Amino acid sequence: MMKIAVIGAGYVGFANAVVLSRHHEVVLVDIDTERVSRVQHGRPALDEPGMAEFMANNQLNLKATTKLPEAVTGATWTIIATPTNFNTESRQFDTRSVEATIAAARRVNPETNVAIKSTIPVGFTEMMRGRYETSNILFAPEFLRESKSLEDCLHPSRIVVGSRGQAGQEFAELMLEAAEDDNVPVLQTGPREAEAIKLFANSYLALRVAYFNEIDTYAATQDLSAGDIIAGVSMDRRIGDFYNNPSFGYGGYCLPKDTRQLLANYAGIPQDLISAVVKSNETRESFIASDILTHQPRVVGVHRLIMKAGSDNFRSSSIFAVISKLRTADIEVIIYEPATNANIVEGCRVIPDLAEFKRRSDIIVANRLSPELADANEKVYSRDLYARD
Ligand SMILES: NC(=O)c1ccc[n+]([C@@H]2O[C@H](COP(=O)([O-])OP(=O)(O)OC[C@H]3O[C@@H](n4cnc5c(N)ncnc54)[C@H](O)[C@@H]3O)[C@@H](O)[C@H]2O)c1
Repeated sequence: MMKIAVIGAGYVGFANAVVLSRHHEVVLVDIDTERVSRVQHGRPALDEPGMAEFMANNQLNLKATTKLPEAVTGATWTIIATPTNFNTESRQFDTRSVEATIAAARRVNPETNVAIKSTIPVGFTEMMRGRYETSNILFAPEFLRESKSLEDCLHPSRIVVGSRGQAGQEFAELMLEAAEDDNVPVLQTGPREAEAIKLFANSYLALRVAYFNEIDTYAATQDLSAGDIIAGVSMDRRIGDFYNNPSFGYGGYCLPKDTRQLLANYAGIPQDLISAVVKSNETRESFIASDILTHQPRVVGVHRLIMKAGSDNFRSSSIFAVISKLRTADIEVIIYEPATNANIVEGCRVIPDLAEFKRRSDIIVANRLSPELADANEKVYSRDLYARD
């Protein structure tokens, strides 16, 4: 058993801390006192499916604190899962929370091995290794999905570690031990390859979403059945009948920012696809807004702001771009979102009562269909074919 510090109690940090704490002493650190307090009281930092039950049914050696030194002192590993938001001015990830964490951890315990799980630009790990003249900083990309974070930590698709040496092997073993499956594929690469793997994997997912959305745009404008076209295309085993459900655009915390970061890493390198993926998503959002406007609504009701079915947050949902285009066209937009009563979009009222929301909307815009809209079917506008993500 060893001591492990996990910095950042979000989707990535919390799920990893929980699964690691079955075998090791884990101390989770966050600046968000509410998340820390929840963990201190034996509750999940976030309401991820299955998490509360998993915590109740397993013996966990898990503590939480706001004080980084307490966690990092004596820790063999410090795992970093703080945010790397996209900075729209520099057009790069803002890596300051990761850099500050590395600096603080090394001040307390220069011997701790640092594993970065936050998604970072290509070249970041080498920059940090150079800054501190050490090789005990590595990057291990995280592939978990929000709302499936526990499941994905227990049953990972693969373990990629951006360090070819002994430390990389030890970190891969730590991740393997936390997983419940045998035979999880492990890939050890150089730091920059691992950073690239994460950005290329997410950009492929974004490209796939954009591709099926463009099929849908074509079908909608040509009066064709998108369902028939997508079904026939997806029957090819090389393409597959999954991750092919049209939406208003890809959204969420990762795909929009990771595609843009990859584009930044392509500076000076010939490419067309990555910029096309980013542009295609914007074109899709504009198409959805103009398609809604062809129905000449006076009041548009937006049903849910969440970025995908089953999600508990709205980070970078494509619906925000659609709302903003509708507002530019001077359309009144009202919102139904049970996850919040706050008026989180300026100029758009949140209507907490579903029946009133339905009554007041001329058209109900839903990125994903829901049984609760069944009685207002004639008002619903959606491009969802399969009622799944
Ligand atoms: N959400 C995902 O599905 C997912 C998947 C793979 C990779 N990632 C990457 O992992 C990273 C974290 O994502 P997330 O979704 O878990 O983020 P999150 O916003 O859910 O959680 C991040 C946490 O870090 C805390 N934090 C911020 N600065 C801190 C600091 N200086 N010290 C301590 N805590 C601090 C925040 O309060 C927050 O609780 C990002 O780089 C993201 O791109 C996310």
